[in-house]
Amino acid sequence: MNNNIVILGMQWGDEGKGKIVDLLTSHVNYVVRYQGGHNAGHTLVVNGKKTILHLIPSGILHPDIIGIIGNGVVVSIPNLIKEISILKNINVSLENRLIISSACSLVLDYHIKLDLVREKFLGSNSIGTTGRGIGPAYEDKISRRSLRIGDLLYDQELFIFNLKNNVDYYNHLISFYDKSIYIDFDLIKIEMISYKDYIIDLVKDTTQILYESNNKKQKIIFEGAQGTFLDIDHGTYPYVTSSNTTSASACIGSGFGIKNIDYILGVSKLYSTRVGNGPFVTEIFDEISDILCSKGNEFGSTTGRKRRIGWLDLVMLRKAIIINSLSGLCFTKLDVLDGLKYIKICIFYEKISDGTRLSVIPTGYINYNNIRPIYKILPGWNEDTSGIKLFSSLPSNAKSYLNYIKKLLNISIDIISTGPDRDHVIILNELFSS
Ligand code: IMP
Repeated sequence: MNNNIVILGMQWGDEGKGKIVDLLTSHVNYVVRYQGGHNAGHTLVVNGKKTILHLIPSGILHPDIIGIIGNGVVVSIPNLIKEISILKNINVSLENRLIISSACSLVLDYHIKLDLVREKFLGSNSIGTTGRGIGPAYEDKISRRSLRIGDLLYDQELFIFNLKNNVDYYNHLISFYDKSIYIDFDLIKIEMISYKDYIIDLVKDTTQILYESNNKKQKIIFEGAQGTFLDIDHGTYPYVTSSNTTSASACIGSGFGIKNIDYILGVSKLYSTRVGNGPFVTEIFDEISDILCSKGNEFGSTTGRKRRIGWLDLVMLRKAIIINSLSGLCFTKLDVLDGLKYIKICIFYEKISDGTRLSVIPTGYINYNNIRPIYKILPGWNEDTSGIKLFSSLPSNAKSYLNYIKKLLNISIDIISTGPDRDHVIILNELFSS
């Protein structure tokens, strides 16, 4: 029996994790965010109504669960307050249902300003960040310069002292990129201190809470943000985010014991998308990319940017299965493929220079100019799969397509999503016994 499950993205984010977390939340007591910040965008559609969450765990729409923001998350308090009020406006009460670690590093205005001016300065070499200050906030954490939630709440004198040092540092740094930008220490100090009363009741020892709940055999979902190939170590560096997005991060970013994780579920679309810059071997620019973009509504939920589109890439998925120690897969957006004459799946990469084939993307340096995708082409289907709940009801070409992928990846396919709504889903393997 599974008590504790990690759910995370297998690609470059936007795989539809939010919906799957929301779906499985009815079985659990806690949903935990453990990395990233408000760069994430988790779109949930319940009864046809759309809600986008960036920081608050996706399961929060279920009235009985407690959402936890673990120590690995970088927190923008104004953004958190905004999200809390969006939820209040749709009658989702958070009373005693949202807990934040005092060890979270804060995202401040100067992080956002630096992120934006640096991207502008880099021009065509930019990362294509979400502009939310995430990179600079994690830089501060690693440089041991972060202001953390606990500092703001429990040692205001030290907080103000460190804030002054950081404002001086950022004014110096930002002036390298743009001399017209100036961070006003007094303004930022007043703003930050005004947040104190707002969040003080939300802050508790999240690690201890998770430890005790596990001892009581309560159930926990750890909700990943972004995706495997945006991981700072294992992703397509430097075109990555600034946190570890792979499964091990669930423990580091929450303080939960590694031996207590029972199941790791990877979520992947049945095609690929990426926002921001960086390598994308199976990217396509033809009319199929336009079809998938509009049918799949492939626009970033945080920035509204049009996502780049490509075919499913098994060379990447094989690697994602390895580095995440994956237990099973959830495939999303099957219905978006309806009506295509054919569907391509990248089964190998081939080195253009010598014809060598790679079945798993290597760790470290890759000369993407020397790589081309080798595809298996399978027939599509004309039938409408949206909302289908049984595998046996799928068109036979869709079944063959999914069975082919399963055979090549040699891993359980647990869930197939057939539409945006919570119940548009085929469950092949119940991950929680009720
Ligand atoms: P940052 O996380 O804002 O620094 O952006 C770094 C890279 O990660 C950029 O390519 C972003 O587009 C990408 N990214 C960050 N968060 C998400 C997400 O939630 N979904 C998809 N891409 C993301």
